[in-house]
Amino acid sequence: MKLSVNIGSVQFKNPVTVASGTFSYIQKYSSIADLKKLGAIIPKTVTLNPREGNPSPRIVETPSGMVNAIGIENAGADCFINGKLKELKKIGAPIIASVSAHTDKDFLVLTEKFNKAGVSALELNLSCPNLKHKTLVAQDKNATYCIVKAVVRKACMPIVAKLTPNVTDISLIAQAAQDAGASAVSLVNTFSAMVIDVNKRRSKLGNVTGGLSGPAIRPIALYMVYQTAQRIKIPIIAMGGITNSSDALEFIMAGATMVAVGTASFVNPQAPRDVLEGIKKYMQKNKIKDIKELIGVMK
Ligand SMILES: Cc1cc2nc3c(=O)[nH]c(=O)nc-3n(C[C@H](O)[C@H](O)[C@H](O)COP(=O)(O)O)c2cc1C
Repeated sequence: MKLSVNIGSVQFKNPVTVASGTFSYIQKYSSIADLKKLGAIIPKTVTLNPREGNPSPRIVETPSGMVNAIGIENAGADCFINGKLKELKKIGAPIIASVSAHTDKDFLVLTEKFNKAGVSALELNLSCPNLKHKTLVAQDKNATYCIVKAVVRKACMPIVAKLTPNVTDISLIAQAAQDAGASAVSLVNTFSAMVIDVNKRRSKLGNVTGGLSGPAIRPIALYMVYQTAQRIKIPIIAMGGITNSSDALEFIMAGATMVAVGTASFVNPQAPRDVLEGIKKYMQKNKIKDIKELIGVMK
């Protein structure tokens, strides 16, 4: 059975990964989750300088999902590269690092730093809804094109553009990323959302608004992956409410090359491993020799 997939020139041993910001790196937990078996690991987004993130509360549970407003809390790129990244590499799965920045210049500095960091690919988070910007890069196809193009020119590894679902037609933004030389697109990030505490007459989140994830968004994310797969040729890393292998297979059949487990890990830390095992069982049962036979079968 062949499970390997490619992003640009890099081969990953299977199509299952974890969505940025949704799992623990602490050794105790990463071994429970069996992350070494995964095709890749996508850690939390890092920025050039440290960020404290948003005021708490930062997470609210909602029907079949959660709204978060973490605000990319992180210790900064240098600290990540010299610390957590070294620990993550010991797990043994290839790393797709995730970066975000306010300016094109910072994206380029981050790219130079990660060129020397020994990661398999670089995901540009162009789509975090929890930063105080008027618009996200990935809400504007020209801005997406310009940043991806500049980064691709500097990068020594495949570049993945992570897109927001908070647009009219996500496939047009994916097309801009492809035209600029991205090796893949990741979709979707969270849907802008909010939850109000009626007794306090205030938002339940310190940041007032946040992003919705989990099974509640799955059918919409699936549609967006399907719509994007009809337009672009580069691989799609799909995420949005994947909790089991059947969910993951839906995304693969809709056109995803890789699938990422996010919010499900908060409920079941072994969800990524279960998704991988379930895909293998499905392939065995249905005599599928190569995962590529399933990618985009839903035309
Ligand atoms: C608590 C939390 C933190 C997240 N942090 C990041 C992040 O740092 N960078 C990023 O690109 N996406 C981040 N995301 C978005 C996820 O990677 C994923 O795109 C989204 O949650 C949809 O997948 P899911 O429904 O399986 O969680 C975060 C999501 C959650 C729930």
